[in-house]
Amino acid sequence: MKLHIVDHPLIAHKLTMMRDKNCNSKNFRELCGEIASLMTYEVTRDWPLEPVEIETPLEKMTGSRLAGEVTIIPILRAGLGLLNGVLRMVPHAHVGHIGLYRDPVTHEPHEYYCGLPKQMDAKCIVVDPMLATGGSAAAAITMLKKHGLKNITLMVLVAAPQGVELVNKEHPDVEIYTAALDRELNDKAYILPGLGDAGDRVFGTL
Ligand code: PRP
Ligand code: URA
Repeated sequence: MKLHIVDHPLIAHKLTMMRDKNCNSKNFRELCGEIASLMTYEVTRDWPLEPVEIETPLEKMTGSRLAGEVTIIPILRAGLGLLNGVLRMVPHAHVGHIGLYRDPVTHEPHEYYCGLPKQMDAKCIVVDPMLATGGSAAAAITMLKKHGLKNITLMVLVAAPQGVELVNKEHPDVEIYTAALDRELNDKAYILPGLGDAGDRVFGTL
């Protein structure tokens, strides 16, 4: 199973603040971005570097830079809450968007938007705060693969075991990074203990 639980103390601290029902949208958004930045540090840990010749104020040297292109793909809407946090760490990344919403009754994902950059060899990070049934993430990754993207990583804040299992089953090549693996889903397919409806909390549409 390609699951990484990024259990850094700062992430655990900030995620607990987000889970609190009294955390307002402003703080929720800020914490989302901060955790996304911290998680990017782990997601990129094994990324290849290439040599680059530069001159310091004192002499020439061979430094390092990230090799290849990077694309960040938030799943709309709630994934937008993570986007800037990742971009802060990888500012040269391209950004694609996938629009999906869950049917409130069947919990099946429905596509309403797909806008992707052309860099097919880019390393892609799909970002979404919640991996619940896994339907949205699995559908988003299928869409990316249909467009020719190959090197895909999924970054979420809170995952349910069902979501991890589905993504692993449908996309065994995709590594999943999560800040927490929660207990279960309720009968409306919300994660328990979770943090509620992430999109509504990011955008204040509760
Ligand atoms: C939420 C969340 C994920 C999805 C997770 O989005 O941001 O995309 O649900 O659930 P799943 O794993 O069962 O598919 P939602 O459909 O509520 O849309 P929103 O981001 O526009 O609020
Ligand atoms: N989507 C959310 O925003 N929260 C959940 O707990 C499950 C799906």
